[in-house]
Amino acid sequence: MKIAPSILSADFANLAQDVQTVELGGADYLHVDVMDGQFVPNITFGPSMVAALRPVTKLVLDCHLMIEAPERFVADFAKAGADILTLHVESTPHIYRALQMVKDAGVKAGVVLNPGTPLEQIKNVLPLVDQVLVMTVNPGFGGQKFIPAMLSKVKRLDQLRQTNDYHFDIEVDGGVSDQTVKACADAGADVFVAGSYVYGAADPAQQIQTLRNIAAT
Ligand code: DX5
Ligand code: ZN
Repeated sequence: MKIAPSILSADFANLAQDVQTVELGGADYLHVDVMDGQFVPNITFGPSMVAALRPVTKLVLDCHLMIEAPERFVADFAKAGADILTLHVESTPHIYRALQMVKDAGVKAGVVLNPGTPLEQIKNVLPLVDQVLVMTVNPGFGGQKFIPAMLSKVKRLDQLRQTNDYHFDIEVDGGVSDQTVKACADAGADVFVAGSYVYGAADPAQQIQTLRNIAAT
């Protein structure tokens, strides 16, 4: 299992320090939420943030692109040092081509589904991807309530993976906490994004450890 703290809930004015805290605290990935104010009703940052983070951490930079037509920026994020680029299937009519561009750039490719998007929409790209992200809240903001109905989507995805011998990781994002991580792990998730649960506490390292312990029980 992998824990991916989301910097969306970190202190942007002390970001290097907040990144170091979770790296020393045993995080596996650093989840980087890119928002454009179009695909989602919020704006964060772009490739220059990834470039700024790259020299300050060895953590895998797991970039979640919540932007329209993400294929426009694949080359920029690859150059900036992204390790994984996860694209919303709803954000482009050419998801297959966009994922091929990510792979051709030498970056791991992920596809992500909004809560209202059925699994069927990504079936044709499953052989192509290294990661499938199942949103467990509506994208755009940290600190929202986990949507339990998404657990069956994770389960069906895990079954599809086993039946077809696919090798992608299943990631969950949104409302992951000590209350919800176990159900996600039981459903088949491998990568757990956590923003407010990790950074909203006095001791982020302890929060990471708690998530790991509960998911492993
Ligand atoms: C929401 C983002 C999430 C967010 C999760 O659009 O994709 O990564 O940071 O925040 P929490 O863990 O607080 O729900
Ligand atoms: Zn995210």
